[in-house]
Amino acid sequence: MVGQRFIQLLEHHPWFEIAWLAASDRSEGKLYGEAVRWRLKTALPKHIAAMRMSPANSADGAPKVIFAALDAAIAADLEPRFAEAGCAVVSNSSAFRMHADVPLVIPEVNPDHLPIIETQSWRKKSRGYIVTNSNCSAMGLVLALAPLQKQFGLLTVMATTMQAVSGAGYPGVPSLDILGNVVPYIAKEEEKMEEETQKLLGHIEGSLDGRSGSGSMKIVPAPFAMSAHCNRVAVEDGHMESISVKLGRSAKPDEIIASWNEFRGLAQELKLPSAPERPVVYLTAPDRPQPRIDVDRGNGMTTSVGRLRPCNVFDWKFTVLSHNVIRGAAGAAVLNGELLKAQGYLP
Ligand SMILES: NC(=O)c1ccc[n+]([C@@H]2O[C@H](COP(=O)([O-])OP(=O)(O)OC[C@H]3O[C@@H](n4cnc5c(N)ncnc54)[C@H](OP(=O)(O)O)[C@@H]3O)[C@@H](O)[C@H]2O)c1
Repeated sequence: MVGQRFIQLLEHHPWFEIAWLAASDRSEGKLYGEAVRWRLKTALPKHIAAMRMSPANSADGAPKVIFAALDAAIAADLEPRFAEAGCAVVSNSSAFRMHADVPLVIPEVNPDHLPIIETQSWRKKSRGYIVTNSNCSAMGLVLALAPLQKQFGLLTVMATTMQAVSGAGYPGVPSLDILGNVVPYIAKEEEKMEEETQKLLGHIEGSLDGRSGSGSMKIVPAPFAMSAHCNRVAVEDGHMESISVKLGRSAKPDEIIASWNEFRGLAQELKLPSAPERPVVYLTAPDRPQPRIDVDRGNGMTTSVGRLRPCNVFDWKFTVLSHNVIRGAAGAAVLNGELLKAQGYLP
């Protein structure tokens, strides 16, 4: 699923060109058009369909920038091989997201975490490194929380997700398990959502000397209390989340809505090609956002928020919607690749 979105998003990209494709040994040696079951509404580009699939277990012949979408167990083995060979690995997998020296980055939220790349052993040896984007359910949540944290402070976050089936990859959840049903369990998802949200909204401590890379630097997770419930629902694309928050200071609803609508980050400042004009948009209609209507806002890169109202337990509650395969996966990685280029990290 994520690999296909990479192809779709990179087809007309102004900075990157697809030069190499690799997947499992089921696909190795085949033309991409033979190996893939293309599931997207846009056509599979002809020149991509005609590319031959390489083995993924060696960086021989691979370009120096790798956009990777592998299962975590496979990524844990393969991604370091590419980093070691001097590649910039822009990863979607959870394998290295929580490693102390691997940045977990959203360009609008924590681009200042990138320099921790310099502490990676691969970087020191071959200039290669790994950078990650978040889990798809953490992505929408963090984009909605970042403006609140910045303006009002965050004390407690409670999130309940309704996650689309495309989040489980292809072919994903069996139809007999999900049609007319809700599955209240997604393996390791709640843990990922909780720890990644705190790392993304955490801060950098220490500094490195730009030339030698000496010094020390660490990412300190944000200290707010956080709990997640994750559910799989029969929706094709778009993770919806019901959120309750306790803020660090009192805020009026107009101030909260303005903090979302006015939120911009380095991605917008640098005018990165995949950056949405508005990372977060507040919808005023009482029954929005909805996946079918709102998931493609900002080419799938804008997070939609709605239904802000007082919460009887915490301070405020609201609904968040984010495209899990674009903003939550391939689009996030492409935006990270653009940030790396703009900041001088690409070979
Ligand atoms: N889907 C989402 O919304 C989403 C969001 C955020 C993060 N992610 C993460 O992104 C990663 C990929 O997810 P997905 O949804 O795209 O899964 P997917 O549809 O199951 O695709 C997995 C890909 O990995 C390849 N692969 C499997 N074994 C391999 C091996 N031994 N060596 C090399 N390649 C191998 C497969 O190749 P073949 O085609 O040859 O089988 C396939 O192309 C996962 O870590 C997932 O957690 C997904």
